[in-house]
Amino acid sequence: VESINQRVDLTLRYSVYFTEHCFAPHHPVLKGIISGGREEAPHPVLFVVDRGVADHFPELLSAIASYGERNGFRPAASPFLVQGGEEAKNHPEWVTALHRQIDQGKLCRHSYVIVVGGGSVIDLAGYAAATAHRGIRLVRIPTTVLAQADAAIGVKNGVNAFGKKNFLGTFSTPYAVINDAAFLTTLSDRDWRSGIAEAIKVALIKDRLFFSFIEREALKLSRRSTAPMKELIAWSARLHLNHIATGGDPFELGTSRPLDFGHWAAHRLEALTKFRLRHGEAVAIGVALDSTYSYLSGWLSEQAWRRIISLLIAIGFECTAPELTAGGDENDPNALFMGLTEFREHLGGKLTLMMLKGIGQGMEVYEVDLPRMARAIDLLKGSTRSLSIDQKEVKKKGMKYA
Ligand SMILES: NC(=O)c1ccc[n+]([C@@H]2O[C@H](COP(=O)([O-])OP(=O)(O)OC[C@H]3O[C@@H](n4cnc5c(N)ncnc54)[C@H](O)[C@@H]3O)[C@@H](O)[C@H]2O)c1
Ligand SMILES: [Zn+2]
Repeated sequence: VESINQRVDLTLRYSVYFTEHCFAPHHPVLKGIISGGREEAPHPVLFVVDRGVADHFPELLSAIASYGERNGFRPAASPFLVQGGEEAKNHPEWVTALHRQIDQGKLCRHSYVIVVGGGSVIDLAGYAAATAHRGIRLVRIPTTVLAQADAAIGVKNGVNAFGKKNFLGTFSTPYAVINDAAFLTTLSDRDWRSGIAEAIKVALIKDRLFFSFIEREALKLSRRSTAPMKELIAWSARLHLNHIATGGDPFELGTSRPLDFGHWAAHRLEALTKFRLRHGEAVAIGVALDSTYSYLSGWLSEQAWRRIISLLIAIGFECTAPELTAGGDENDPNALFMGLTEFREHLGGKLTLMMLKGIGQGMEVYEVDLPRMARAIDLLKGSTRSLSIDQKEVKKKGMKYA
């Protein structure tokens, strides 16, 4: 048998900028990104904007227009508004509408889609940009904590289909990312909090100092203090980026998926609750559940487990939901455990889950003991009640918990 064994090496680079007011008239970052990539005549630029963001910043669209004009951007059309939130990923019409804009605006592979919004609109626009002409340059300007700390800085995009999260999607690197802290001021309390779950997730599997930082700043974070939030976002972004760059599998060709700690249950709960839960809120429950399972399995100490649940509660998360039950099995479409089947399919056939053996220390497991997971659910439901009461005492007395 003849064969050609070809190796293809590819180095991908992009920058994540941290700034404020990126559409102020003389702000250098976005114009630097666009002019840095310019060859001859300027290529068209299409802005895609989360309607929820535009509603909260009434001057945003005119600021975008004048920033573009001042800096010689060639607008493909006026900014395209997309409904914010998970609904953006649930309706295939949005993908088609974006492809149509890209076509009518005559965007080519050297043009830019610049998306301003939460993780959902960014995932949607990223998917549309990656699939039109097999990939148009994408500049992401995330506007939520979750997107700045996790969703918008990595290499994945996607939309939901057949009731499954991210069933359609691609791996593709952004051209650049601009984390603009000024957008965070108008977030609802839920969206302010939601992204902290991904930060706690990455701290738990990788960095105990980061976990201690979040514990120390929990009260300030829950009261919407900006300084610790900026630090949390930058720290979380660094850990996520570092994993992508040095984890050895940026495009997830293997079955290991450490950054998806807590996500098998989270993705399932989002669907089971018909997206009543935000992604981050579901992740908080998923992290609480897999931490409890790790404790019941004897891998994680009781003290560490209590610290985790206490921190989630201190930040303001609910650690359970009515839909978190052990009814049904892995093949029952209405059961939580179906999440394990879906996760296995998504990974490539072999179940690989991240669990904890300490704070900042993940470990992989390849099977789940369902009765023990059911006990974890029960224990979590019971302990959330008792630990919440403790937590109120802690807040009142200002003690350090743990
Ligand atoms: N691609 C990835 O690697 C990755 C990683 C993690 C999460 N995600 C995805 O990200 C999505 C969740 O994103 P999210 O948590 O950012 O929420 P979201 O995008 O669903 O937005 C939530 C709400 O906040 C509004 N909003 C956005 N910015 C605002 C602002 N500055 N002020 C006021 N309102 C604002 C939106 O309009 C929406 O109503 C999920 O679909 C999740 O699966 C993707
Ligand atoms: Zn997530």
